[in-house]
Amino acid sequence: MDIVRSFEDYIKQYQQSIDNPETFWADVAGDFHWRKKWDKVLEWDFHKPEVQWFVGGKLNITENCLDRHLPERANQTAIIWEPNDPSEEPRNITYQELFHEVCRVANMLKAQGVQKGDKVCIYMPMIPEVAFAMLACARIGAVHSVVFAGFSSRSLIDRINDAGCKLVLTTDGSYRGDKIINLKAIVDEALESCPSVERVLIKKRTGSKVVMKANRDVWWDEAIKNMPDVCAAEEMDAEDLLFILYTSGSTGKPKGMVHTIGGYMVYTNFTFRTVFQYQEGQVYWCTADVGWITGHSYIVYGPLSAGATTLMFEGVPSWPDMGRFWHVAEKHRVNIFYTAPTAIRSLEKAPLSFVKQYDLHNLKVLGTVGEPINEEAWHWYHEHIGKGKCPIVDTWWQTETGGFMISPIAHITKLKPAFASFPLPGVQPVIMDEKRQEVTTSPGEGRLTIGFPWPGMARTIYGDHQRFRETYFSTFPGKYFTGDGCRRDAEGYYRITGRVDDVIIVSGHNLGTAEIESAVDEHSAVCETAVVGYPHDVKGQGIYAYVICYDRPHEEEKLRHEIRELVAKIIGPIAKPDKIQFVSGLPKTRSGKIMRRILRKVAEGNTTDLGDVTTLLDPSVVEEIKAGAL
Ligand code: WTA
Repeated sequence: MDIVRSFEDYIKQYQQSIDNPETFWADVAGDFHWRKKWDKVLEWDFHKPEVQWFVGGKLNITENCLDRHLPERANQTAIIWEPNDPSEEPRNITYQELFHEVCRVANMLKAQGVQKGDKVCIYMPMIPEVAFAMLACARIGAVHSVVFAGFSSRSLIDRINDAGCKLVLTTDGSYRGDKIINLKAIVDEALESCPSVERVLIKKRTGSKVVMKANRDVWWDEAIKNMPDVCAAEEMDAEDLLFILYTSGSTGKPKGMVHTIGGYMVYTNFTFRTVFQYQEGQVYWCTADVGWITGHSYIVYGPLSAGATTLMFEGVPSWPDMGRFWHVAEKHRVNIFYTAPTAIRSLEKAPLSFVKQYDLHNLKVLGTVGEPINEEAWHWYHEHIGKGKCPIVDTWWQTETGGFMISPIAHITKLKPAFASFPLPGVQPVIMDEKRQEVTTSPGEGRLTIGFPWPGMARTIYGDHQRFRETYFSTFPGKYFTGDGCRRDAEGYYRITGRVDDVIIVSGHNLGTAEIESAVDEHSAVCETAVVGYPHDVKGQGIYAYVICYDRPHEEEKLRHEIRELVAKIIGPIAKPDKIQFVSGLPKTRSGKIMRRILRKVAEGNTTDLGDVTTLLDPSVVEEIKAGAL
């Protein structure tokens, strides 16, 4: 089916997708290679909830990302890899080479005993092998669970055990600017508590010293030697699992979001091509880490299924200096650049000379994702990076949605800074008010729900369908609840206002407050903790922890340091609280519920207008909290 090429097309396609969703998506899906066509486009019931797309269809997603592009794209670059250190050589991997690399890894996995349906944990830095590994799993029908390599061993344990992973793929170490992180040591620590893991394959990257455990650990480079570079693709059902990816929720336990093959493939491909208006031969760069959904959908599956050239960057935006992104963009003649507001805000603070010294004239489209972008950052990005001529696609979506939901379409949608603008074809947003009534007016404001299934949506939480129902389908029966608040203006533009649940977004990463609280609580001096987000210049939201200790701490700074290190160890450095205030009590209602509203206000620096505190068990704690605010 043709991609939207004008605003009139958009209106037309959108209308078709609402009037006749099954015909619409069947048309989109018709462009792919199916071993067997589906019997029915859609089966659904949001009350159960149950959603199936392309029921009975058979395919392998890697045939669509690789084989389908050969021989036409054999010599076209599929992946450009830019290493952490700019003096190291980048790699260009053509579609032909990618095909063979994936097949070799697939054969290696098989040789190590991985079979269809097995779960494979991928805990690796941003090197091409991480993409080979994901696709290799998909090739043989194994389910990948990529864990962001910045997570600690404790987080890794929870994720490996929840999915019951049989094999772990990792590296000796990873580079992060001028630092080296010993990934393998983190894996070793985790695996003491992961009985399901039989094998670990270690790709050499940093040359860090590693301890190899007999009968478990194998060097990737040894294991892959002599592996054939062709591997037949397993025939999969459209609704078979493609991957599990963990995201934070409002309880401490992360949710393993399950994505299935057919719908996810169709949706990521369609949204990638539509929103970025990707043109043949363009170089596309998404700066996300592959450990997040953005990396899955828009570094690997979306672009590769579209036959695009996708750039993978191992490094960080601030090393060797604050000009690194722009250097990479110039060096590889990037045309489409997709990043997070937090990155823009931090780069915006650096002298403009870091931007000006690079030639960015190849840039055609800019994008953002992960959190609301503030207008100041939007304008800076538009003016200094896009030179006033590149549209910014502010893409709203979630790990759960698999792909873009509300977003401008590059060059087509008239932009409004900080607005995600209009729903993409197939997406039916419904705003609900506090009384659970639909808000039909524009302007209107409330909670954002989606009233109809779309192919890319997660099907369940791995091993916990009940939680899936409760989290997403019970607040507004018959609708998918996003957890976000939103506003629709008089022209129908959507603006996402942020989470309305206990998830905070720090530098674009979702963190559950409960998860951080339970980590802080593990400190032996700590009795109880309440964590809230507060506005932070660069990170979007910072983490503010109110901590009750058993005894009044003598050395507050030392304890703060210990708590931060503990959280880094349990969850990962991204979850370290920015501010820790020691308090003797928390504002609780008579039923024992913490009034986070009050804590949030104090954390925001607002101590005058705290609203009604009369329902509190002990209103005097509020005075103490205000007095000690950081
Ligand atoms: C937030 C990332 C405003 C939102 C793809 C959502 C956004 C959560 C935007 C999902 C945006 C993402 N504008 N807010 N353009 N994009 N968000 O699962 O709160 O890591 O619910 O998926 O990020 O984060 P997740």
